[in-house]
Amino acid sequence: MAVDLLLGLQWGDEGKGKIVDVLTSNYDIIARFQGGPNAGHTLVFNDKKYVLHTIPSGIFHNDKINLIGNGVVIDPVILNKEIENIKKENVDISKTLFISRKAHLILPTHRLLDAASEKSKGKNKIGSTLKGIGPTYMDKTGRNGFRVGDLESKNWKTKYYDLSKKHQQLIDFYNVELDFSLEDLESEFFEAIEKLKKINFVDSENLLFESQDKNKSILAEGAQGSLLDIDFGTYPYVTSSNTTAAGACTGLGISPNSINDVFGIFKAYTTRVGSGPFPTELFDDYGKTMSKVGNEFGATTGRPRRCGWLDLVALKYACRINGVTKLMMMKTDVLSGFDKILVCTKYKYRGETIENLPYNLSEESLEPVYEEFEGWSEDLRELKSADNLPKSLNKYIDFLESELNIPIVIVSVGPDRKETLFR
Ligand code: IMP
Repeated sequence: MAVDLLLGLQWGDEGKGKIVDVLTSNYDIIARFQGGPNAGHTLVFNDKKYVLHTIPSGIFHNDKINLIGNGVVIDPVILNKEIENIKKENVDISKTLFISRKAHLILPTHRLLDAASEKSKGKNKIGSTLKGIGPTYMDKTGRNGFRVGDLESKNWKTKYYDLSKKHQQLIDFYNVELDFSLEDLESEFFEAIEKLKKINFVDSENLLFESQDKNKSILAEGAQGSLLDIDFGTYPYVTSSNTTAAGACTGLGISPNSINDVFGIFKAYTTRVGSGPFPTELFDDYGKTMSKVGNEFGATTGRPRRCGWLDLVALKYACRINGVTKLMMMKTDVLSGFDKILVCTKYKYRGETIENLPYNLSEESLEPVYEEFEGWSEDLRELKSADNLPKSLNKYIDFLESELNIPIVIVSVGPDRKETLFR
């Protein structure tokens, strides 16, 4: 049985959590393949809002398997808080949540290293969520990491202290002031580890092989967005994992030829949180309206998100890298009432017009070239069917589909599960 992928095509926060939740009924297994608690996947149903950071967004469906794959990095303290929250909704995770033994753990000193590294960068800081993501992936690729499966060995604490000591030397090396008590951080960490040990640890690639042999359907869930990919994103203003389709192969152990549909999620406009280039960023009333109506604040850090028009050059690039087969356009309702909608279709760059992403997106000479569309005034949240979309919105959609050559199969018109129009 094939695996479908679902990933973000911009700088994250596209609304992946909502769509995974909507699509979960079509699958037996939802598997998260990369990132960690830097992600914040927001789900809204029955008039309540839930934010998940590490747990796959299928967890509210009691009969589905939710797998945290080997490519994910886990902070046990944050994971436990998530579990406590969802337990309040009578979600029983004992038979539905599984964690790969090969997933790496975020230690308290990883978080401190993240803070020290960011502080040392001054105004060139990445704008990291400071969850310890970069240092944990560095230890993974440097072959020093601490994996979930290590907790099954008797002397795991020795391994922990060896690594933590190394980190403390590195933190000293940064020579920046940090306000923390390692003792307090370690005490909540060790407490969380005892709870973590009660969750099902698995050799997740085998679980997925066996599930495929039994014809189970699998949805691989990405985090962050393609433009934050460590290789193809706006480096160095990126996260530390492969957020693109290839990350699902390495982050779960699924083979490229078992991938069927690749669902690409994008907002009808663009947002970015943290530092880094953003060619279509707006500083005027259009941007302010997107921010206000779209409630554009980070689900993990609460930071305001930067807002701008849709960047089709970047979106085409992301579709290509991921091999997107179906598109889903999110937060379309936010643009209701705009007198005009702009889409960046090209850039002016070093005196030429280009249609590809240049190596350095932050070069001063780079300027977006826009096409203008008529806006619409209708409140889309009331709509029950995509057949009733306003004429000018249909024009916008037709234009994007013809430029990208990929069908837009979902138009999302609000945060609730119910506010999802299928085309
Ligand atoms: P880190 O992965 O926490 O180190 O953050 C690196 C960059 O990626 C920063 O600009 C973050 O704001 C951004 N980032 C990380 N995770 C997310 C996410 O889930 N949504 C949006 N941006 C993110």
